[in-house]
Amino acid sequence: MYKLYTDISELLTLKQAAQKKGRHITASDLSVIKKAQFITNKGHILWVGTKKKLTPAVLKKLGIQANSIKEISLNDQTVMPGFVECHTHSVFSGTRENEFEQRNSGVSYQDIAKAGGGILSTVHQTRKASLEKLFQLSKNRAQRFLDQGVTTLEIKSGYGLDSNTEIKILKTILKLKKLKKINIVSTYLGPHAVPQKFKSAAEYIDFIIRKVIPILKRKKLIDRADIFIEKGYFGADLAKAYFQALKDHDVSLTAHIDQLSRSGAIAELCLHEKITSLDHLVEMSKVDIKKLSQSECTAVLLPLADFYLKMKYPPARRLIDEGARVALATDFNPGSAPSQDLSMVGVLARLEMKMTLPEVISAYTIGASYALGLAGSHGSLQPGKKADFICLNDHWDRLFYNVGYHPISSTWVQGRRLNRL
Ligand code: NIG
Ligand code: FE
Repeated sequence: MYKLYTDISELLTLKQAAQKKGRHITASDLSVIKKAQFITNKGHILWVGTKKKLTPAVLKKLGIQANSIKEISLNDQTVMPGFVECHTHSVFSGTRENEFEQRNSGVSYQDIAKAGGGILSTVHQTRKASLEKLFQLSKNRAQRFLDQGVTTLEIKSGYGLDSNTEIKILKTILKLKKLKKINIVSTYLGPHAVPQKFKSAAEYIDFIIRKVIPILKRKKLIDRADIFIEKGYFGADLAKAYFQALKDHDVSLTAHIDQLSRSGAIAELCLHEKITSLDHLVEMSKVDIKKLSQSECTAVLLPLADFYLKMKYPPARRLIDEGARVALATDFNPGSAPSQDLSMVGVLARLEMKMTLPEVISAYTIGASYALGLAGSHGSLQPGKKADFICLNDHWDRLFYNVGYHPISSTWVQGRRLNRL
């Protein structure tokens, strides 16, 4: 069934941003078409252009008979690609507001973790929750993302650590995926913290390699695999062993890296062909910035975590000016980033990281699609890509301006309007 989406005052296709692979983005890369229309077939975009350009000859060339098109008016609104939220920890039980208060009185994130709080405290609560409870919690969270125009959502495991709970979490993510509403990307983050029953990080990675990865492979539960590279968590050598064990597995790789301290591993990891993104990137050297910027790896920046932990922000300006492809995400989790607000991410990126609005828009669409290895099908509105888009009831330059303001009037996934999960 062909659909013609019409009455679009401005269409931000991000065509040129996609052609530039999300690098060196300027306002013209948003590729705005005024008085636009586009045609889809089976949820994919076939043709994009102005109303004037859609002539009978164009239809003929596309092999479409005028009477086989269903016309859908988008009421003179602005239309742009749906947001791609490429880094979240949305499956967990319990909250950690007590740690917020502790941190605010001067206790560090690391000291809270050493005293048994932090990630391990959420692990404890998540192990006790049933799959059904986790599903309800995370469905509500995914709904809050959808309400902000998110059409692709990445979700990590990592609050189970033991194989049974990790699999329970991954099955929860799979259940969300099977709703077939927004696109869900599932990431295994077993190496998020070292569980108490293991003597060392090395022993736990060995367990993951021998016992967990074979199960993940067999059950085809994941799209990506992640690890927390940080002092007191997992060193770069263990990360390399973990990535090596995943090399024949059909998944892309990513890492939490250089959030609290510099690992020195960026230069090597960003050249790894399966690593599509490196995330956090607060503590980088000049050389790290250069190497990452010149690589095919996307720099995922998570300013909400820096805000909540009162850390410095990543060197976004230097990365972008060196040619890095940047993505932004919430990092939503109960500890370092207990907010799901995309507008807040964008406002911090603009105010604290000096990103321009077109850079933020590109980072949250095409940049984030690259981070997830989905740039071939998502992140811009071009022929061949999925018709995942949002309608705005305000001008697009009021995005990422007013914290908590989400001028999204409707969200469409593969050409279908979606209100609820
Ligand atoms: O991305 N840094 C590691 N993981 C999360 C925090 C997890 C937590 O504190 O529960 C992050 O910031
Ligand atoms: Fe994270």
